[in-house]
Amino acid sequence: MRNEEMDDFVERVNAQTDILSVVQGYVPMKRKGNRYWGCCPFHQENTPSFSVVPDKGFFYCFGCHAGGNAFKFLSMIENVSYFEAIKLQAEKLGIPLPERHKSPQELAREQERKDLRKVNELARDFFHNCLTMTRLGEPGLAYFKKRGIRPETIEEFQLGFAPLAWDKLSTAFLKRGIKQEFLLASGLAAERRNGNGLYDRFRGRVIIPIADERGRVVGFGGRVLDDSTPKYLNTPETVLFNKRRILFGLDRAHRAIQREGYAIVVEGYMDAISVFDAGVENVVASLGTAFTPEHSKLLLRYAPVICFCYDSDEAGQNATIRALSIVRDTGAEVRVIVVPDGKDPDEYIRKHGAEAFRALVQKAMPLVDYRLHYVLSHTRYDTLAGKVQALQAMMPVLAGIRKPTERSEYEKKLAQALMLDEGVVQAELARYRPEVLPKETKAPVRQAVVQQDDALRRAGRIVIRMAWQDPAVLAHVETILTLEKLADPVQREILLLLKQGLSEGRPVDEAMTAGLSDEASAELSRALVENLGGREETQAYEDSLKVLKKAELNALYMEHSRRANEYLQAGNKAYLDELNEVNKIKHEMDEW
Ligand code: CTP
Ligand code: MN
Repeated sequence: MRNEEMDDFVERVNAQTDILSVVQGYVPMKRKGNRYWGCCPFHQENTPSFSVVPDKGFFYCFGCHAGGNAFKFLSMIENVSYFEAIKLQAEKLGIPLPERHKSPQELAREQERKDLRKVNELARDFFHNCLTMTRLGEPGLAYFKKRGIRPETIEEFQLGFAPLAWDKLSTAFLKRGIKQEFLLASGLAAERRNGNGLYDRFRGRVIIPIADERGRVVGFGGRVLDDSTPKYLNTPETVLFNKRRILFGLDRAHRAIQREGYAIVVEGYMDAISVFDAGVENVVASLGTAFTPEHSKLLLRYAPVICFCYDSDEAGQNATIRALSIVRDTGAEVRVIVVPDGKDPDEYIRKHGAEAFRALVQKAMPLVDYRLHYVLSHTRYDTLAGKVQALQAMMPVLAGIRKPTERSEYEKKLAQALMLDEGVVQAELARYRPEVLPKETKAPVRQAVVQQDDALRRAGRIVIRMAWQDPAVLAHVETILTLEKLADPVQREILLLLKQGLSEGRPVDEAMTAGLSDEASAELSRALVENLGGREETQAYEDSLKVLKKAELNALYMEHSRRANEYLQAGNKAYLDELNEVNKIKHEMDEW
């Protein structure tokens, strides 16, 4: 397929798409002025802060700051990629997708994945029917009953049973004309060692189907009914099943994760099933492997907070500590749910009930508190050596706290617990990361910069709105500001995209925003719906330009001052030129 055809296709879908009717397919909206309002589907709220401005083609939530065009909305609510969302909408509108010429390898790979999914689906039905409709499934039903799993839960998760026989599934599938290679490639069967023929991978186990985030079966977990080993057997790695990337339950959980603002991660799928059954739906499980950065990124698409609820045994606690550092590196905020009694969430719920578990969820601890709790219960801090050990164990999390006020609170807490002077804790922290925290006095300065940034961003949005509504404004902006030097990378991205689009003669509409990053797309939507209107708007625009110009000059001023100082220290006479420059900038600053 040529690119033009694709552009044509996207343009046609775009032209026929009405964002209001798309949104109203999911959220009831009420009109107020030129906007429509409703309760945001992406976070929990009771008063509407989710708005759509139909003639602009954007939605924006003032509560959670989600925003974008109709396709962005579809991609978020249906949990598909941006392009998938366009295709979905095209389907609804009856616009055919242009044919794409794929390479034979691409076609073969696609076909293989399709075939494997089909085989997995058939296998899920086979195991489920075996459990619920045949006598062979009786031991499985008895097992689930003993564990307190309700028939509704068996239906909801399509749980199953693999009969205790060598090749029930293989034989049945071969008879139905499913090729041997698919049985092998899906990991459902293996070749017998001597002679030919296949044997089933799962035998005499209850079966838990594992789906990808879109609900397509990609593999299975099987648990023995007694104490034999291995307790769990999973589908081996296949083209569909990559344990580093799959989280059990994400297909059911993602909307709840978005709504609640956090995901709960448990160790086992039986835990996830119990927790879900207890009415806590934002839960997923990693599959017997450690929690990976890929898992973390997957969850971050839905919420910024990840809450671990691992087993309360030693292994579970160690796994928690390991997972914590992985998650923090990907930028998520981490909390920990501590299960006080009983080995894991499943057992806790069986013993104390759903209500009690939900209360534990409410009491999830921030990472630092959890770490403090853990370190204090694992070191003998009544001795000097123990104190030092505890102190050092706390450094990585303490150093990770960005807010100075919060950090000093924890410094205090730790000092008290270890019966040390607060200064000792601070000194240790300064030694731990001299490059990040040179002097304690640096902190307030950084805070001021953050506040100023907010005013800057507001100004930036006003300029963006004006320029978006009238391309001639951009030319005016450029007579004053250098777009490439705009301090905020997100706003810079938007204005540079607009500039590029205009220079290519493209119309300013939602289609133009397709190339924007998620942050930029949300920021643009925000800019477009924050409406002042009337004369005020022109005044606000001029003020904003001034604010941005001052910031630009200020950055320049700082840069040249720093360089002047460097040259001076090095005994280089070039510092005079720099000082000259600094003076010029100062004059210019006075003019604004
Ligand atoms: N696991 C595995 N292979 C094993 C043991 C465990 O793949 N031999 C994985 C499974 O995904 C399991 C998770 O690790 O769900 C947690 O293991 P464990 O705590 O031992 O199991 P539980 O979830 O408590 O299972 P159950 O309650 O059924 O005993
Ligand atoms: Mn368990």
